[in-house]
Amino acid sequence: AEEIKIGLLGLGNVGTGVYKILLENGREIFHREGLELKVEKILVKNVGRKRAVNIEQGILTDSIDDITDNPEISIVAEFMGGVDPAREYILKALKNKKTVVTANKEVMAKHWHELERVAGENGVGLYYEASVAGGIPVINCVRESLQANKIDKIMGIINGTTNYILTKMSDDGRAFNDVLADAQRLGYAEPDPTADIEAYDAMYKLSILSSIAFHTRVHIDNVYREGITGITVDDINYGKELGYAIRLLAIAKKRGKAIETRVHPTFIPLNHPLAAVKDSFNAVFINGDAVGDLMLYGRGAGDMPTGSAIVSDIIAACRNRGRHRYSTFYNESVASEDIVFDNN
Ligand code: HSE
Repeated sequence: AEEIKIGLLGLGNVGTGVYKILLENGREIFHREGLELKVEKILVKNVGRKRAVNIEQGILTDSIDDITDNPEISIVAEFMGGVDPAREYILKALKNKKTVVTANKEVMAKHWHELERVAGENGVGLYYEASVAGGIPVINCVRESLQANKIDKIMGIINGTTNYILTKMSDDGRAFNDVLADAQRLGYAEPDPTADIEAYDAMYKLSILSSIAFHTRVHIDNVYREGITGITVDDINYGKELGYAIRLLAIAKKRGKAIETRVHPTFIPLNHPLAAVKDSFNAVFINGDAVGDLMLYGRGAGDMPTGSAIVSDIIAACRNRGRHRYSTFYNESVASEDIVFDNN
């Protein structure tokens, strides 16, 4: 069997999940794939801090060079979040010929072109299943399993924190701030909750998902965005009386050359399947011309579900070595000039 040495960037919620999955399922992966996935180094801010999992001595480091300049490490998995310094670290890893697996929707949505170009130039892979809807394999589903289709509509709940907040406000009648604190404690929320509650997180994810689905770059500037901070328990109760639930929906539609992409709180009928999506669960509806309607449902956040996507990407990266695939549509200059963005 072959030993694959991995560097992890971050040991928060997601990093801990990845570490736990490798501990628990590593043996099986070894027997099935002939791969020994070994965490060689983990980048953290504070090496001395007490951790939720038992980490072997000497694995933690606070220097990125210990990972990007380590010739033994062939895969770097990043879940620090944010653009700085994640972008710089990812670029450094790619330039040093390490395949990168990331959960970082913001860096993907904003710097996709650059990251994928550098990955291509260096013959290594860039994998980002975990960046959209956590454990739900929606990127692979759209890119691989549905590639026969023309996709004209995607609609979903792709932010767990806001869905948790909205459903708790509805079921328990509790105020927004109170429930937000719970979501942060449970590890669903981003370090800065603004990204969740003002729908930046969902905007990044919709930008990635719609780019893949429509084979053109849907830049974040082309996504209409409105968060949930203005929603009160009264609004929710009023909606209920009329037979509606409020959900933060991400919607992408393509009609001919017109693309519409938006994220905002939406009233949906209580008997609609999306109204049954509660707590931090995510769900994505996709319509393809051949497959028809399709719905994916699962956990869009949390350590183990997001870890599931990361570790699966690591295994895929090992299987695809030497023949990684790259997208071309992420490049703004390649994106069809005659596409019209229309969110009105
Ligand atoms: N903060 C995100 C969410 C985490 O709540 O969905 C997963 O991307």
